[in-house]
Amino acid sequence: MNVLVAGGAGFIGANFVRRLLAAAQDRVVNLDLLTYAGNLENLAGLEDHPRYRFVRGDIGDAALVRELCAAERVEAVVNFAAESHVDRSVDAPRLFLETNVLGTQNLLAAARELGIARFVQVSTDEVYGSLGREGRFTEQSPLAPNSPYAASKAAADLVCRAYHHTFGLPVIVTRCSNNYGPYQFPEKLIPLMITNALAGEPLPVYGDGLNVRDWIHVEDHCAALEAVLRRGQPGEVYNIGGDGELTNLEIVRLLLKLLDRPESLIRFVPDRPGHDRRYAIDSAKIRRELGWAPGWRPAEGIAATVRWYLEHRPWWEKIRSGAYRDYYERLYGHGGRHGAA
Ligand code: NAD
Ligand code: TYD
Repeated sequence: MNVLVAGGAGFIGANFVRRLLAAAQDRVVNLDLLTYAGNLENLAGLEDHPRYRFVRGDIGDAALVRELCAAERVEAVVNFAAESHVDRSVDAPRLFLETNVLGTQNLLAAARELGIARFVQVSTDEVYGSLGREGRFTEQSPLAPNSPYAASKAAADLVCRAYHHTFGLPVIVTRCSNNYGPYQFPEKLIPLMITNALAGEPLPVYGDGLNVRDWIHVEDHCAALEAVLRRGQPGEVYNIGGDGELTNLEIVRLLLKLLDRPESLIRFVPDRPGHDRRYAIDSAKIRRELGWAPGWRPAEGIAATVRWYLEHRPWWEKIRSGAYRDYYERLYGHGGRHGAA
């Protein structure tokens, strides 16, 4: 299958591109704008792969998307491209709407025009809002996004729904919980805490640190996405989760223990505005219908992730120093509106 992966230079997208190229016979075209979060080093070693092509470009560029899909005879689209960090969306919401909503609509329009046979929209459990102490999100839970990021993802989900309902486009939406694993940009909780601890810098914990996230290893998420790509039912939504509920403080303490660093590095800082208290995913549907199940248990997956960051210091040190951006400026010229980290 000829697959357009949008946003394949980011954390989850890069893991997914590696998975498709390692196992199957698919041809992968990776369309990524290389914003601050996109990093070609996440794809190191694939440059000359015979079934792989990288194109730097914006999912919001209608002509580029249409021409690329036509030229590459794209049969399926998997859309990871997004602004993905909640704190940045609190700071500057507009780009989230442009990329996550209008960019997705642009991909959908091209898929419709060209009659593309499959469209997987990679969404998030954050569209469901926040839970109390009990219960888990199912695919029937109402959408109640709280952050600008979550609102932009929920809006994109609804545009996907409309393209299926109105135009018959074979769109599938997946909603996954918080991912961890190799190549995650060190602004997100787990890699930020690992790299700060290794640098001897404070670990900023928001509020009381008792917010709960349902952690899943990125490899398990990518396996679920591959199952959806190959066997998912058009028009359906699939929740994906790892049964890995932990408070932020539990995570931070586990990381410090694994790294043999003192808990005195923890700093409680003012809470994130509108901070969702708890997420938890019921993934019974994808388990039942597509035969998927997570392989990693959180404690083991997080320990493996810590080892990965210890073994890949140059990867994250370049990000922390900003050196990787200098490289793209030289290679591709100015970064446009997406330039600054
Ligand atoms: P990321 O920020 O690491 O990667 C996003 C990628 O999209 C980057 O490579 C970036 O360059 C690219 N991109 C941004 N704007 C673009 C544009 N206009 N055109 C083309 N490319 C563009 O994000 P991630 O953590 O890998 O998340 C990938 C997807 O999965 C997102 O859609 C996110 O909402 C979703 N998701 C993430 C998580 C998580 O825990 N990280 C959980 C559930 C769902
Ligand atoms: P994050 O990795 O940003 O994912 P999301 O907000 O999409 O769930 O944050 C995960 C949790 O960690 C969330 O409850 C916010 C918290 N957090 C901190 O306490 N300190 C930090 O520096 C960051 C980045 C997150």
